[in-house]
Amino acid sequence: MSDSPVVDEITPDKLYRDILRGNPPYILDVRNEDEFAHWVIEGLPADSLLNIPYFAFLEDEEGCLEKVPRGRDVTVVCAKGGSSAFVASMLAQHGIRARNLQGGMIAWGDLHVTTRLPSPQTSSLSLFQINRVGKRCLSYVVVSDGDALAIDPARHIDWYTSLARAQQARLTRVIDTHLHADHLSGGPGLARTLGIPYHIRLDDAAGAQFPYHSLQDGDRLVLGSSVVEIIALHTPGHTPGSTSLLVNHTYLLTGDTLFVSSIGRPDLGDKAEEWAQLLYRTLFDRIARLPDDVLILPAHYSTVTEMRQDGIVATTLGEARQKNPVFQRRTKQQFLEYVLAHLPAQPPIYQEIRRANLGRIILDAEHAIEAELGPNQCAAALSPRV
Ligand SMILES: [Fe+2]
Repeated sequence: MSDSPVVDEITPDKLYRDILRGNPPYILDVRNEDEFAHWVIEGLPADSLLNIPYFAFLEDEEGCLEKVPRGRDVTVVCAKGGSSAFVASMLAQHGIRARNLQGGMIAWGDLHVTTRLPSPQTSSLSLFQINRVGKRCLSYVVVSDGDALAIDPARHIDWYTSLARAQQARLTRVIDTHLHADHLSGGPGLARTLGIPYHIRLDDAAGAQFPYHSLQDGDRLVLGSSVVEIIALHTPGHTPGSTSLLVNHTYLLTGDTLFVSSIGRPDLGDKAEEWAQLLYRTLFDRIARLPDDVLILPAHYSTVTEMRQDGIVATTLGEARQKNPVFQRRTKQQFLEYVLAHLPAQPPIYQEIRRANLGRIILDAEHAIEAELGPNQCAAALSPRV
């Protein structure tokens, strides 16, 4: 909309921090009902989210205004921030304290929040979790002695180069734990831009149109000149090539294999039962052998309930054994029945995203935004959605 009215605005970052601090605003989402059903701002109390499409305000301004609560600060949201600015201005003219979410849901989907994990003072290791809040995607940067490694980077690669620069470090490798289906990987682009190796396992990368180094089970990568050691563990099931990364025997970056309260769905290759059997072995033979105090750092989360107080999405393996429902299904039969009964529908766009992540098709900027709209659907739905 070219004549956007002047209204108060809030950035996605400030909105996220308000939600995290337990100070959530009232959200009026003016996108159409389908868009609203597909994807909303999460982490709000149930009575703090209202959908009234923009066109309804045009047709029945008075009727719509009556539905908006008085006495509350209202943040208005649309897809790009234009229609919501118009509605926010309309609300303000009627004495409602309103502000516009800058850039709308597209900007919300691009918000990346970086949090450093607490690490012992003696350690030369710095580990950062980058939370792409709107998509609930997590990526990581490990830094040691001026060397940095990016794991599962999103397509906005500037976040990673800036983070490394701020740490006075140089990115020297990039790894994808598996071939992603829900979002466009920044891995190959980051590797190409910086001229550094890109690692992914051959099982997932077959047919890729760019150079890569195939990760092997037991591969040991040393970062910097110090003692940061990363061991690749082949943990198939979500995909055949899924690989988890054990950092200094302390952190396990599980990709989409094990989440805080669920597991990666095994049906994306249309071989649900076969891959679910692999996943069973991975979880109960491979990962279960690790000690309880290993910190699980996944590549996704489904709900904000998987987030700790400090904003980091993580759990110890010991806690996961007690609380993640998947670990209560101990026999293979119980596990298979449970997982296969909890598979959400596969978004059709995932085929295209996988092809793009192999470099077999190239999506222009507009198409890339469209392909990535909405939260990930990578988990078998073992935890309640909120
Ligand atoms: Fe995945």
